[in-house]
Amino acid sequence: MRSVVYSEAGDAAAVARVEDVPEARAPGAGEVQVAVRVSPVHRGDLVGTSRALPGGASIRALGTEAAGVVTAVGESVSTPRVGDRVAVFPAVGAWSERVTVPAEFAVIVPETVSDEIASIALVNSVTSRDVMRAVEELRSTAAAPDGAPLVVSAAASAVGKLIVRQAVDQGWEVIAVVRSDRSAATVRTHFPDVPVVVTQDERWQRNLARLIDGRPVPVITDAHGGPFVKEILPFLADAGTLVVWGDLAAQPWTLTTSDLLMRELNVRAVSISRWTHRPDDIRAADREAALELAARHPELLAVHATYPLEQLRDAIDAARTNGSGSALLTLN
Ligand SMILES: NC(=O)c1ccc[n+]([C@@H]2O[C@H](COP(=O)([O-])OP(=O)(O)OC[C@H]3O[C@@H](n4cnc5c(N)ncnc54)[C@H](OP(=O)(O)O)[C@@H]3O)[C@@H](O)[C@H]2O)c1
Repeated sequence: MRSVVYSEAGDAAAVARVEDVPEARAPGAGEVQVAVRVSPVHRGDLVGTSRALPGGASIRALGTEAAGVVTAVGESVSTPRVGDRVAVFPAVGAWSERVTVPAEFAVIVPETVSDEIASIALVNSVTSRDVMRAVEELRSTAAAPDGAPLVVSAAASAVGKLIVRQAVDQGWEVIAVVRSDRSAATVRTHFPDVPVVVTQDERWQRNLARLIDGRPVPVITDAHGGPFVKEILPFLADAGTLVVWGDLAAQPWTLTTSDLLMRELNVRAVSISRWTHRPDDIRAADREAALELAARHPELLAVHATYPLEQLRDAIDAARTNGSGSALLTLN
């Protein structure tokens, strides 16, 4: 079967290649095999190739999330069944014609949800729910007053929009921070009542201060990273927490210890790579909520374009640069 693999650490555009590899193994007890139809190129997938292959392996398949159809089930699997359309995550090697995963990782997709939307239903939603759990806990520990705004950076990104959606649904006041006017327009389209600050505007800090209007901000969620962290910290209340969930800048932070120390500021990181360690009931609720959200709000799961495997390089390039939606690989 065809699969996207790499053999040496390096930039994904240089080291990822399409190769004929042995067929995915038959599902064992508690597993299912899925014929992949669509799989997104996440920024996180691309970061993965910069690390050495684990444990002396000579080849590794790429991709983590997909939508497809169940083609075989192992012993003791009652759901999903052969023929069911499913979204799968985590699915190591999802950029392959077939993957074999624990049945628990394959969620049946409602009829109204397209393959394209299903293929991006899990990672971004689950991350946004993980972020929201951290935010809720921190706001309640800080006894945040009802009117305390939540500042959300990268608010037009795939995960950012889902965080804003859930925060608005909670009845919280949200202030969106984005880099460009294009992203500001995206936020305004989806959330006309949410004020937006654009960091490419040199007055952005003044604009944000005006919106905060002296109120304490116990939590800020951030995916810009890099030097921006030092710029956004002054807007946190003393003892407040920066919830970090992305690294769009891909640059080192420029903080000194005293930037955190004197005001007892905190940093909390949230990563989907730790999600499989969450309790079973939380993961089950996250999966259900993700598919429900995909059915109710497909407009929040934007697709930039689809690419056959032959156009892998174009898909990688689009995932890195377009910023207007996911780049999807199409397989079977
Ligand atoms: N914690 C986790 O488990 C987890 C899960 C998923 C994603 N992530 C990470 O979260 C980040 C966002 O991912 P995503 O998939 O939501 O992104 P995305 O949908 O690709 O969004 C990109 C957005 O970010 C903006 N952007 C691009 N480069 C930027 C920069 N250097 N500084 C500020 N804004 C920038 C673009 O806005 P403009 O149009 O304004 O440039 C665009 O709207 C990535 O670092 C990703 O790896 C983490």
